[in-house]
Amino acid sequence: MKATLEAPRIEEQARSSSFPGRSASPPPSRSLALFPPRGEQRRSDDLLSRRLAQADARVSAGAVAPTIDLARFKRDLAAFDFATPRPLPALLEWTIAQMEDGVVHVTHPHYFGLFNPAPSFPAQCADRIAAAFNPQLASSTTSPVPVEIEAHVIRSVARRAGLPAEAGGHFTTGGTEANYSALICALTEADRQFATEGARAFSGAPVFYASRDSHRAWLKIAHQAGIGRSAVRLVATDGTGRMEPDALADAVRADRAAGCVPVMIAATAGTTNAGMVDPLAECAAIARDAGLWYHVDAAWGGGLIASDRLRGHLAGVELADSVTVDAHKWLATTMGCGMFLTRRPDALSAAFHVSTSYMPSNVAAIDPYVTSVQWSRRFLGLRLFLSLAAAGWSGYGAHVEKSVALARLLEQQLAARSWRVVNDASLAVLCIEPPGGAGAVQAIVRRVVASGRAWVSEAEFEGRPIIRACVTHGRTTPEDVAALVDALDAAARDCP
Ligand SMILES: Cc1ncc(COP(=O)(O)O)c(C=O)c1O
Repeated sequence: MKATLEAPRIEEQARSSSFPGRSASPPPSRSLALFPPRGEQRRSDDLLSRRLAQADARVSAGAVAPTIDLARFKRDLAAFDFATPRPLPALLEWTIAQMEDGVVHVTHPHYFGLFNPAPSFPAQCADRIAAAFNPQLASSTTSPVPVEIEAHVIRSVARRAGLPAEAGGHFTTGGTEANYSALICALTEADRQFATEGARAFSGAPVFYASRDSHRAWLKIAHQAGIGRSAVRLVATDGTGRMEPDALADAVRADRAAGCVPVMIAATAGTTNAGMVDPLAECAAIARDAGLWYHVDAAWGGGLIASDRLRGHLAGVELADSVTVDAHKWLATTMGCGMFLTRRPDALSAAFHVSTSYMPSNVAAIDPYVTSVQWSRRFLGLRLFLSLAAAGWSGYGAHVEKSVALARLLEQQLAARSWRVVNDASLAVLCIEPPGGAGAVQAIVRRVVASGRAWVSEAEFEGRPIIRACVTHGRTTPEDVAALVDALDAAARDCP
């Protein structure tokens, strides 16, 4: 069902109101639209729940890619001049209809794309609860229960990753903020004067290391931290997408000899394009010998800690000073929900401490605003708390194991039709070359996406173009995998 824009209807009370100055009784308020009576709110809430469930069912049966007529949509949008209020129920129906046509559906079981997951249902419930109470998590005084819940989840995830009992951390908006936190900790630990002097504290240019297959947000992070994008040393990979340890050690030595100041090694546990895990223990040893902060970016690969069978792929992560894990990737919470874990909570306090009279408390290692980048803070951690509490680590373990099993199935079915998987895909992402050679990659991806039958992306692996297919949707089945293979085959046949 497609909602149309209804003619504006202004509430009677609001229609009659005019600014009354200091009259004795408060004016009937136009803000009733913002804060409707409880009965009306419940009716809208029920409508919203019903319509979202209906939309969810339609999405699974429809196209994965957007089908919206953008010109028509922009015209409709331009009609919102915000001069005339519109009734909320019609607005809700309209918005859901536009979303149905206007986004790549990460909740579709044929979405084999980047790590935006179909969100778990407990995480969706968490968003509703957080929105209803809207707690301010900046301080433990204003939100004692949410702050404790988040700290409890962070400790549990850190322990599951093998970090020591004293490890701490916090929720972030995503992997980028978590990685940014790592760099700020590394710079502050390299020289505490960084807190006041910035990069001027160092005797030479501060630099840090990540593989050339690492996530490119590192460039923006270096820029924001004030040390410049050239501070990111993109270390060679070994031909299989993993950081080359000898090249890493050489780069650290060469930088020191040239007067630069190395501050951090950031290994990747699950590269974005190919799911490769850098040699974590070897990188840790190089960081230890050189006296550098050791960070592991396990933004999506970190999901493997849930599985007793598969977590061995992350061996060495427990040696890290800090770790990034995004719950909004393989752990299937709503976005954005990242985590920064560290064995050195004291480093967080050194990096993010601040004090001011108007905050109700200022307790190091407890109040989130003095241990993290953010100040005002949403109750993000409830999404993972409810999901973990409802499913347990075993439920999450089954989820990631199923993803990996489906990726293996996809690999087998592709091989049977002469497609090649070129990464050693122990995680749930495949880098695929078509039978006719890599030349057709772009055309095939475009055809598959345009067909609406599935969603895959283009990427590069070790310098060659590949089709990237990732299985992180909790409802994807073997039939969905077969549908992807058919869609890829059909697209390849149509290519010139
Ligand atoms: C390995 C890795 N690190 C960091 C990020 C950035 O995470 P976010 O998009 O949550 O900021 C990603 C995103 O895909 C990633 O794959």
